[in-house]
Amino acid sequence: MKLLVVGGGGREHAIIKKLRENKAVGEIYALPGNGGIALDAVCVPIGANEIEKIRDFAAEKKIDFAVVAPDDPLVLGCVDLLEEAGIPCFGPNKAAAIIEGSKVFSKNLMKKYGIPTAEYNVFENAEDAIGFVESSNTLPIVVKADGLALGKGVIIAETKREAVDAIRSIMTDRIFGESGSRIVIEEYLTGPEVSVLSFTDGKTIVPMVSSMDHKRALDNDKGLNTGGMGAVAPNPYYTEEIQKRCMNEIFLPTIKAMDSEGRSFKGCLYFGLMLTEKGPKVIEYNCRFGDPETQVVLPLLKTDLLSIMQAVHDGRLSDIHIEFSGGSACCVIMASGGYPQAYEKGKEITLGDTQDAVIYHAGTRLENGKILTNGGRVLGVTATAPTLSEAIGKAYGAVSKIIFEGAHFRRDIGKRALQYK
Ligand code: AMP
Ligand code: GLY
Repeated sequence: MKLLVVGGGGREHAIIKKLRENKAVGEIYALPGNGGIALDAVCVPIGANEIEKIRDFAAEKKIDFAVVAPDDPLVLGCVDLLEEAGIPCFGPNKAAAIIEGSKVFSKNLMKKYGIPTAEYNVFENAEDAIGFVESSNTLPIVVKADGLALGKGVIIAETKREAVDAIRSIMTDRIFGESGSRIVIEEYLTGPEVSVLSFTDGKTIVPMVSSMDHKRALDNDKGLNTGGMGAVAPNPYYTEEIQKRCMNEIFLPTIKAMDSEGRSFKGCLYFGLMLTEKGPKVIEYNCRFGDPETQVVLPLLKTDLLSIMQAVHDGRLSDIHIEFSGGSACCVIMASGGYPQAYEKGKEITLGDTQDAVIYHAGTRLENGKILTNGGRVLGVTATAPTLSEAIGKAYGAVSKIIFEGAHFRRDIGKRALQYK
């Protein structure tokens, strides 16, 4: 089989490595891929957002199955174009991808169908939003751009001044472009966060093993928000009792709601949850696999990924038995010095003996046989083991054997999970 994977980060590398485990898989094309993916797939220099070019390439190569991994092409309708050209895909169509593409849509969906989430208000102009903030008595308060904003569209304002500044930069200065034409202002929630990725064909939903992201740049959750500096799976805070509640109060109601809206969701639906004192609530939906969560979840998947993806596409997910290993996984992200702010690229990466771990490439490129840094998040170093503490030890053991100038990584990935009592 000839496969195509849209995207070029650590998540896509993890997906490609997993798809490779199926013996029926021949060529895999990655659009655009990266320096490490180039060792597992054929990288083609077509950007993940160039959806017409992706369709033309897929048609020309007679691709048997495509996986569209990142949010932007999904929200732009890449799956619709590919399916129209007769190429079966894993991923939601444009109508369903709106669950991530518009926070106003997802908040209104949750309200309409009684799915627990933070209280909120929607604003279409800056003056009304500022007026609301001025008259409100609770802080912090959360300001969110409606549309996609490279993961930066959420501001937790500790003061009214910060909230007003956030509203002005999103709505007046349009720092995220059209994504800021509307905003959501919502209640600040507290509690442990859990990421749950799920497979769904629109009727059946199968949650994958839970995970925990580490979003801040520095140890002990200090520093700026990033795309994610590491992850562990499973997430110990996500107990069996909470799993049951989430299935009944959140997961099933969400896919039913999407179906009722004529937006049946097929693909990976990601639930960003907060376990509040009043029960689990949805912080965000993503219409795709999370990054770096995928780099800890897929290594624990025992069932063939391609078969699951095909069943999702065909609407026969209920026929498949999906199994995860009972072990744990830890992924430590090695980033460029300075990330998530300005950083330099082009540093040569030297890998020592890292055989205890799998190295997923994110921001790398291959040049004259050398691997060079080429982005903020550079590598995801994942290890699996029967226990979380062993997985953490193995992952950091491998990290210590990887050298590039300015390398930055957190030293406490998994610490909060180990503290769970
Ligand atoms: P997002 O960009 O939607 O992934 O949100 C980024 C992060 O902001 C989340 O992972 C949470 O840690 C935090 N966040 C978002 N909404 C809220 C909220 N209502 N209350 C507290 N934290 C939030
Ligand atoms: N790790 C969070 C995300 O993929 O959006």
